[in-house]
Amino acid sequence: MVDIHCHILPEIDDGAADIDTSLEMAQIAQKDGIKTIVATPHYIEYESEISKDFIKNKCDLLNNYFLKNGIDVKILPGCEAYISHTLPSKYKEGSIMSISDNGKYILVELPMVEFPSYVEDVIFEFKLMGVTPIIAHIERYKYVDDNFDLVYNLIKKGALMQVNSTSVTGLFGNKIAKKVAHLTRLNMVHLIASDAHTAKGRSPHIVDSLLILKDSGIDHEVIDYIVENGYKVINGLEIDVREPVLKKKGIFHKLFRT
Ligand SMILES: [Fe+2]
Repeated sequence: MVDIHCHILPEIDDGAADIDTSLEMAQIAQKDGIKTIVATPHYIEYESEISKDFIKNKCDLLNNYFLKNGIDVKILPGCEAYISHTLPSKYKEGSIMSISDNGKYILVELPMVEFPSYVEDVIFEFKLMGVTPIIAHIERYKYVDDNFDLVYNLIKKGALMQVNSTSVTGLFGNKIAKKVAHLTRLNMVHLIASDAHTAKGRSPHIVDSLLILKDSGIDHEVIDYIVENGYKVINGLEIDVREPVLKKKGIFHKLFRT
């Protein structure tokens, strides 16, 4: 399995506190069947503009450390880029790491509370450069609560949606867990990842969440599709986007729509 969103790099932002925490995280991942982890430290314009070289060097350091300690988990470079209207131009300058540095996919984080007006423009600009934005943990944003049309529109503009395994297992509450299952049924989930920050609590587990999704009645083909997409992302291969289902509006919405 592949984990495309994980804060495993040591001593950066709110991720692993030190290299031994990274090692512990990799051990947990290995037991869970995760063979490849994309390291996704936060990239935030003006606040935390970590360079591509810095990320690559940290990945090399971890890969060597894991090898020495008999851990068979490969770390690939990436980042979790916080959205801004200038993000595509920064990317064009070569300042931002794509997933696996293959120039095909970029992990993009949105603000938690307010949906910025320029999100669709950013998606459009990335798509023009041949890069597909993957929206990180779509289920966690406040404005997605009862607005799945918004997710539908983002997919139609060319973005893919990632959900957190910890959301499925209930770390952020029952409501968010249900939201993931609902989005999955509407073909609005393309990838699942741990978004792990440490070896305890938010740790790199994915299997449990897949079993929960399966138990909630989600078809195994859909789960296989979501898992398989992780491999496609790290290899820069195109993902076959399933047609998202627009949530049906109630009769009152139709009657009183202006
Ligand atoms: Fe994250």
